[in-house]
Amino acid sequence: MVCIARFTRIRDVTDYDVAETLPDRRRRAVRVILCVPVMIFLTVSAQAALPGDGAEGKRLHDANCMACHDTAVYTRKDHSIRSLDGLKQQLEGCSHMAKKEFSPAETQHIIKYLNDRFYRFQ
Ligand code: HEC
Repeated sequence: MVCIARFTRIRDVTDYDVAETLPDRRRRAVRVILCVPVMIFLTVSAQAALPGDGAEGKRLHDANCMACHDTAVYTRKDHSIRSLDGLKQQLEGCSHMAKKEFSPAETQHIIKYLNDRFYRFQ
C-alpha cells in the first residue's frame, strides 16, 4: 500500500511537473526569442554611438569649459539642450564665448563626452 501510494505520489508529481514545465519552457523560449532582437538592437546602437574619444573630450572639456559653468548646467532640471544638434550649436556658441577654436576632431571628442556622460541623445 505504502509503495503504491508513493508510486502514485511520484506519478502525480511527475505529471504535475510535465504539465507545469511545458508552458514554462515555452514561456522561457518566448522570452529568449524576444530578448535576442533587443540584444542585437543594443549591440548595434552601441556600435552606432557617436564617433570620437570620450576621455579626450573630458580632458578638453575640463581644461576649457569650466570657467563659466560647471557640469551641473547639463543636468539641471530645465536644461536647455534637447537634441544632438542643439548640443553642437551650444558648443559652437560656448567655444566662441570662450574664445576657443576646436578642430572638428576635438569637437567630436567633446560632444561625445557630453552626450555619453550627460545628455544621451540617440
Ligand atoms: C564664457 C563663458 C562660457 C564658457 C567658457 C563655456 N560656456 Fe557653456 N554656457 C555658458 C552660458 C552663459 C550658458 C547658458 C547658461 C544658462 O542658460 O543658464 C552655457 C550653457 C551651456 C550648455 C547648455 C546646458 C543646458 O542647458 O543643457 C552647454 C552644453 C554648454 N554650455 C557647453 C559648454 C562647453 C562644452 C564649453 C567648453 C567648450 C562651454 N560650455 C564653455 C557660458 C560658457
